[in-house]
Amino acid sequence: MAQLEIKNLHVALEDGTEIVKGVDLVVASNEKHAIMGPNGSGKSTLAYALMGHPAYEITEGQILLDGQDVSELGADERAQRGLFLAFQYPHAIPGVTVTSFLRTAINAQRKAANGGEENPVPIPEFRTELLAAMEELKVPRELASRYLNDGFSGGEKKRVEILQMAMLKPRIAVLDETDSGLDIDALKIVANGVNALVGPEMGALVITHYQRILNYVTPDFVHVFVDGRIVAEGGPELAHKLEAKGYEAFIPAGVGGDA
Ligand SMILES: Nc1ncnc2c1ncn2[C@@H]1O[C@H](COP(=O)(O)OP(=O)(O)OP(=O)(O)O)[C@@H](O)[C@H]1O
Ligand SMILES: [Mg+2]
Repeated sequence: MAQLEIKNLHVALEDGTEIVKGVDLVVASNEKHAIMGPNGSGKSTLAYALMGHPAYEITEGQILLDGQDVSELGADERAQRGLFLAFQYPHAIPGVTVTSFLRTAINAQRKAANGGEENPVPIPEFRTELLAAMEELKVPRELASRYLNDGFSGGEKKRVEILQMAMLKPRIAVLDETDSGLDIDALKIVANGVNALVGPEMGALVITHYQRILNYVTPDFVHVFVDGRIVAEGGPELAHKLEAKGYEAFIPAGVGGDA
């Protein structure tokens, strides 16, 4: 079992501007949560803060993973404890192939799990698992030997994010608009990937603008995020209501929002 608990989280930019203004949220294994909210409401900022991106400062509140406060830990340590973020805009790493990136990440995880002693994954085992995951997620074989995200199409980047998730087997996965830019077949593949992994070993927080992905990944909980706060919560029906009516009804007077 894993549990991510976000308590009264406030996040500010380096210039002090507060973007996330007090979020409370609990995501546990076996659960699929969706966060939906307009452009610029702070969803990615929340995701970055959860992963420990240095540009986003936690000014108040806590992030607990299995009851332990991880808000002071670096991104690598959070990853080793089982947090994973699929980026809205994945970065290219020229010079590092997808294969070597994945192997390095897995070995870092194995080292941490082994009390700091190296315990590299045997290459044949790694290859077998990688090929199976690529097959499952319909990631073209040739991508494995290319530099990570370098010249990848939008959809290829998103599939490779899910490939990372499948290989790293995080305990809590945060997916930041992994659906945007995907064609319908890729969307189904990605959704199936999420559905296959959510279970006793993993919980997921899916950030999205659109109901579309939620037709395939049925959320247990939907959180409406406006201006740095969760302003409404419900079940899957709430996503349908948003799709039909937009965010208007949830935007307090005087607060901007352009989606
Ligand atoms: N590093 C940064 N520097 C300056 N402004 C930032 C930075 N990161 C976020 N912001 C600002 O914070 C606000 C929230 O951005 P964020 O990316 O979290 O929104 P979002 O809800 O993910 O939007 P979208 O739906 O468009 O992805 C925006 O006004 C954005 O311009
Ligand atoms: Mg975003």
